[in-house]
Amino acid sequence: MKYKVLHFPILNSTNSYLKDNYKSLEDFTFVSCDYQSSGKGRNDRVWTANSGENLLFSLLIKNKEIIENYRYFPLISAFSVGEIIEKYTGKKVEIKWPNDIYINDKKVAGILLEGSIPDYVVIGIGINVNQKKFLGEYRKEPTSLFLEINKEIDINNFKQDLYLKLFECLLSLNIYKDIAFKYFHEHDYLLSKEVGFVFNNVSYRGTVLGIDDDFNILIENDSGVHHISSGEIELLK
Ligand code: BTN
Repeated sequence: MKYKVLHFPILNSTNSYLKDNYKSLEDFTFVSCDYQSSGKGRNDRVWTANSGENLLFSLLIKNKEIIENYRYFPLISAFSVGEIIEKYTGKKVEIKWPNDIYINDKKVAGILLEGSIPDYVVIGIGINVNQKKFLGEYRKEPTSLFLEINKEIDINNFKQDLYLKLFECLLSLNIYKDIAFKYFHEHDYLLSKEVGFVFNNVSYRGTVLGIDDDFNILIENDSGVHHISSGEIELLK
């Protein structure tokens, strides 16, 4: 099996492109673009990125056997992105559960999974590569690989390495999920930190203990240890 690649100068969103065309596109199609006019982030946020300075792409997965393991896709995606960033920068990355990528306490990459199981899944990844200024409204200013190492990165080489890594990891999920779990434990941004979280529509705070075998985050407070499978975890300190 081989993957396919598409590239466009402009798309509304690489995720939307694959969602709109998943029926006619082949399994394991990667689509990237220089600029997204309606880039999407998690929780209905927008993802903005200067044209041609960043890596913006999505991967379409239709293979049913692989989709059966979709609960590991956030972990595998974050692991793949983290490894390639570390290879190109020599900097240690941290993963903020479930799959935000941080360097030096600043977000450098985000991952948005969408789809309709069991028909298809889209893994969308945005990495701030060579962008030098972030002018939008941010609660906390993001960073880019350039800002961390003061050197431009060849986006095409970086992209090819990451495509291959993701492809290999997804095809051999049984092997790579264990490696990715270990990697997560060693790169856990939230470990032991005080966080706010929402559970059954109620807001709580607690301390992060790590993750369980199903990639739920474990948060402890007075009422016990909570296994949280989705949602926003807010760092309190
Ligand atoms: C997040 O951290 O909120 C997730 C951001 C995901 C952004 C990427 S950029 C490529 C792909 N297309 C989109 O519209 N979003 C994802």
